[in-house]
Amino acid sequence: MKTLFCGFRCYRCGAEQDAGFGGYVCPACGGNLEVRYAWPEGQPEGWWVDEARQDIFRYRALLPVADLTKASPLRVGRTPLYAAHRLGAEAGLENLWLKDDGQNPSASFKDRAGAVALVRARETGAAVVCGASTGNAGSSMACLAASVGMPCVIFVPEQAPAAKIAQLLIFGAQVLAVRGSYDDAFDLCMAVCEERGWFNRNTGYNPFTREGKKTAAFEMVEQLGRVPDWVAVPTGDGNILTGVWKGFCDLKEAGIVDRTPRMLCAQSAASAAISRTVWHMQRSGGAADWSRVAVEPVSATTVADSISVDLPRDGLAAVRAVIESGGAAVTVADAEILAAIPEVARGAGVFVEPAAACAWAGLKAAARDGVVGAADTVVCLCTGNGLKDVASARKAAGEPVVVEADVGAAMAAVEGIV
Ligand SMILES: Cc1ncc(COP(=O)(O)O)c(C=O)c1O
Ligand SMILES: [Zn+2]
Repeated sequence: MKTLFCGFRCYRCGAEQDAGFGGYVCPACGGNLEVRYAWPEGQPEGWWVDEARQDIFRYRALLPVADLTKASPLRVGRTPLYAAHRLGAEAGLENLWLKDDGQNPSASFKDRAGAVALVRARETGAAVVCGASTGNAGSSMACLAASVGMPCVIFVPEQAPAAKIAQLLIFGAQVLAVRGSYDDAFDLCMAVCEERGWFNRNTGYNPFTREGKKTAAFEMVEQLGRVPDWVAVPTGDGNILTGVWKGFCDLKEAGIVDRTPRMLCAQSAASAAISRTVWHMQRSGGAADWSRVAVEPVSATTVADSISVDLPRDGLAAVRAVIESGGAAVTVADAEILAAIPEVARGAGVFVEPAAACAWAGLKAAARDGVVGAADTVVCLCTGNGLKDVASARKAAGEPVVVEADVGAAMAAVEGIV
């Protein structure tokens, strides 16, 4: 089935553009754009799935791309959804599921966004794909660009974890390691793309990244056979949260499902711009005039580098997603994030990076506070593989027992182990 993509609508002022619009943001107010579709009526069950494909383009009718010969040959998406009973029990959750997006080609959720962005870039004849990243979005873009021989330029903070910089370099991207924060990298990337006319993949700014990310919602519905009650999302810029929420909304608008989940925004207390705005709006209780809502920047310092963001670039849409879904925002201390890494690993066998561990830490807090109910079906998004940031994992993992190369010493060391 062909794409049903029909245009754009502004998150802030509601202005609409048709599908031929070539810009990134609302020409009326500069707000972020939502991609729109013309949903067909009276379709047979399952019409939205192309069973022949085992990647995100299985949902090609619900994606804003036409020419799949321009897609990366790498398999993006169709990641496992694991029932995690033992881990769930630790938080009193009876129906916990882990969506392991560390199993994407570059080992993070960001491949979903990059895969759609790459097709868009090639469809529009771009010579170079460019982006700013805390590390994962960039290493993903570099990986996917390499798979089709497309030049790629990435701006990252100089302090990004070594594995992410190594990925960027190995995939052959031109890497600009910025002496500054992710926010500085973002602004530099904007200026250079504008000047050079390169395809700008920047999170939040580029409406197509959200479209790739929404495919995780489609997979959850296919894999679970129903819509979950909650989805826990580790959040920095807010684009993953917004994307997953949009996936469920698209399915509902298209008449494929009849309900949507509540979105749990999990952030570090040391990078909590979106949560603060959500709390403020929940306290003030007023129906939102979204054109007046502003997400105030913070000074982010969290150990979870992927969600360390001063000014969230998809903040407004993320706040809307939490509020409109009837969801909640939770923040956790960095110590809880680090402690969550071995918990998920030991409780379910999934090794996550700090940002991803924030989803589990936040979910535990929400369960403890009675926000998420014991019997609720909850999907916790594992957005990045733990090998992305081994230094942080080692801080939480403890030390090995060091022994001499001697059987007696080894036997003494294992005494007491069952
Ligand atoms: C592993 C991981 N988790 C969570 C996030 C947060 O996504 P967003 O910035 O869209 O909120 C990112 C973004 O870089 C990430 O790489
Ligand atoms: Zn607008």
